[in-house]
Amino acid sequence: MIRMLDFQLSGRLIFGRGALSELPSALARLNVGRVLIVTDPGLVRAGICASVTDVLAGAGITYAIFDGVEPDPRMAVVDGCLEAARDSSCEALIGLGGGSALDIAKITSALLTNTDDVAQFIGVDQIPNPTLPKVLIPTTSGTGSEVSPIAILSDEDAHLKKGVVSPRLYADVALVDSDLTLGLPPHITAYTGVDALTHAIEAYTNKYAHPLVDGFALHAIELISNNLRRAVACGDDPEARFSMAMASTLGGFCLGTVNTGAVHALAYPLGGEFDVPHGVANSLLLPYIMRYNLISNLDRFAHIARVMGYQTEGLSQREAAEQAVEAVVQLCRDIGIVSRMRDLDVPESAIEPMAVAAMDVTRLLSINPRTVTLDAARAIYRQAY
Ligand SMILES: [Fe+2]
Repeated sequence: MIRMLDFQLSGRLIFGRGALSELPSALARLNVGRVLIVTDPGLVRAGICASVTDVLAGAGITYAIFDGVEPDPRMAVVDGCLEAARDSSCEALIGLGGGSALDIAKITSALLTNTDDVAQFIGVDQIPNPTLPKVLIPTTSGTGSEVSPIAILSDEDAHLKKGVVSPRLYADVALVDSDLTLGLPPHITAYTGVDALTHAIEAYTNKYAHPLVDGFALHAIELISNNLRRAVACGDDPEARFSMAMASTLGGFCLGTVNTGAVHALAYPLGGEFDVPHGVANSLLLPYIMRYNLISNLDRFAHIARVMGYQTEGLSQREAAEQAVEAVVQLCRDIGIVSRMRDLDVPESAIEPMAVAAMDVTRLLSINPRTVTLDAARAIYRQAY
């Protein structure tokens, strides 16, 4: 029987080239005149933060900037952002950046109306009160965080990424302007794009996969297959960027509804312990976990192969499914993604503790289409090494 779906999205989604110009009217509808922009120093240097503050200043909206977000942020970053939010007396937060900036904005908006202790939010449905309003503006195409109820933080002590999952984390406004991604360097375009691909593939094949969400996932896979190479090869191609932004948002639609699986679970220790960017960690593991999961649903993997442009006519069901793995390997190769863990200075001795740590990510392992034992986790890391 198909399970009941509880589908929620951000309050509003404003999507398209030039969507940034809609920011003042979106804030006016929220009745907000003073905001804190949560971003990272790179976006300030690149002038993208200025393009947002220009729009705010033009509309007479008062703003302050917290630019202390780092990649795969530690919990301590949240404390700095919370302090900046209190100092600015902001009425709303604007998350501007990749997944890290959006996640810090989401968490901070919840801390302001709940507790100072972020550890209390870890897990599912642990945020009791409504948050301060938040507008999320992605500048990469991958995370889907702008439309998801999830925020990920690095717990340095546990050497693991920890997830906060709550409907309170949905954006009041998700504002996706693909022109903000035009200057993104090829390597970040590549690994964030594979993150979006991983969201879609895991959502289409995990135990929670649902026919209502399948369309989002399959369309995202097709868009990424057709456009990620172009976006990496020629970053200022507005059509490729638009399609990747759409794929990322569609992947985000899958996150709150059916979520991901073992790729994300096994990627967390790589990010938490060795600071491997999330998309790189996913891409290292994706082909091996697809191969491991293949027997759970050959038809679905065969369908992924076809959506990615592979001919499956005349092949056995098993051979057709394997084409999906081949399609992903080829895509990652074409866009220059590192394919072995050893190339990232991860010692072989880390495999055992990473496998043990990954087993704790039951939130995701429990929905992987094939049971992942400790032995299986070890074997997958070894294959990716
Ligand atoms: Fe992800």
